[in-house]
Amino acid sequence: MITVSLISLGCAKNLVDSEMMIGHLHQAGMSVIPDAEKANVVIVNTCSFIDSSKEESIGHILEVTKNRGMRKRNKDQKLIVAGCMSQRFSKDLPDSLPEVDAFIGLDQITKIVPVIEEIYAKERGKNEAPKSFIEGKSTWIPDYDTPRFRLTPKHFAYLKIAEGCNHPCTFCIIPQIRGRHRSRTVESVVAEARRLVAEGVKEINLISQDTTYFGMDTWEQRPNPRTPVDSSRGTALTTLLRQLNAIEGDFWIRLLYTHPAHWSDELIKTIAECPKVARYIDIPLQHISDRMLGLMQRETSGDYIRDLIKRIRAGIPGIAVRTTFIVGFPGETDADVEELCQFIRETKFERLGVFRYSQEEGTRGAKMPDQIPPKIKEARWHKTMALQKEVSSAVSATFVGKTLRVLVEEPGVARGEADAPDIDGRVYIDKKLPVGEFINVTITGHHDYDLLALPKGIEPREYKVAKQAQ
Ligand code: F3S
Repeated sequence: MITVSLISLGCAKNLVDSEMMIGHLHQAGMSVIPDAEKANVVIVNTCSFIDSSKEESIGHILEVTKNRGMRKRNKDQKLIVAGCMSQRFSKDLPDSLPEVDAFIGLDQITKIVPVIEEIYAKERGKNEAPKSFIEGKSTWIPDYDTPRFRLTPKHFAYLKIAEGCNHPCTFCIIPQIRGRHRSRTVESVVAEARRLVAEGVKEINLISQDTTYFGMDTWEQRPNPRTPVDSSRGTALTTLLRQLNAIEGDFWIRLLYTHPAHWSDELIKTIAECPKVARYIDIPLQHISDRMLGLMQRETSGDYIRDLIKRIRAGIPGIAVRTTFIVGFPGETDADVEELCQFIRETKFERLGVFRYSQEEGTRGAKMPDQIPPKIKEARWHKTMALQKEVSSAVSATFVGKTLRVLVEEPGVARGEADAPDIDGRVYIDKKLPVGEFINVTITGHHDYDLLALPKGIEPREYKVAKQAQ
């Protein structure tokens, strides 16, 4: 039996792709093992978002080939490079990484088994280049019955509702890698969600490049992406959320990667009316200065964003807003950074991440004048992050004394509705609790980004006495 090991890098979208490759391998009777050294085939599913992700991907590829070279046994191991880096550099990689046996892109996920069979059946000639199976731009989209083996813990899952992106952001390479936006149908997503809930999943994280664009690619008259949507109009996303909310069972639905340009009042109303949709939204804003939003081609303005955040907070009581900003984009001045800092101070985002701009080959931003030196980017990053640390600490303090419903991740660690997996804070509970269950806890303290808690019903004073008596 052929044994395969898969190294999954990059974001949750790539993780779902890895899960689907493993699903196909299992279906074909291949065995997937964690130890790459022992496997007949290693697949590295790469990321290519910024320089550091490319470096990480190449590092893993070279490590596999180095280990293979050092071993006497298993030196015939095959190496397949998949994912975003493979898709992005499909023309160059076979020459620059001759140690690899095959390259596949995003549309060959379902063909992983025949690819393995092919490279196994035919020994490569000494000077023969690695085979690339990538053909043109990515157009594929998974369906509810695409084989998949989940790699996340039993209680949470990612559900990819669309693939690709139609936005023109000048800093981002992803649309060139993942292709035009294409949505799954509402029925397909609901069918998959039903299965996940039946399998015991307690949190479904909806993902795509822009979840708010879900279904808009199928509108007869596609909206001009530069014009915000008709605010009163229901969209496929609002229909989807209402149908997911109607699935029986105790679970959360979390909406990740929303684009501010496609929010509508109807979406705000829908989230407010669907109790299973977590009181949490992820809305990458990237900047607040009109000049920077224009240079980044974000299809929004400072006034629009300020008004949208107000409408979201007023329409969905208790909502936690997560965003990300980029500092050091070409042409950014001290005044732009000051405006951003002022916005962070005033808005008090519950969750916030800041990225230093990365000059990515193939993007329009990379060719812009007035690139910012790394030292200045670094200083701006520190300034904004330090500011957010204060905001986060103040936000965390408001939870002390409150009761929160949390999902237990590990025996003493949980997440609340305001904490998405992998990116946000944690709730630390001084008691071993059943993993994958919802419980109510009382918040007793906090660090900057994390909360401390006791199971509801245990008072901090009683707890201290009981601890001392142990
Ligand atoms: Fe994700 Fe990296 Fe591709 S962030 S979409 S795996 S470039």
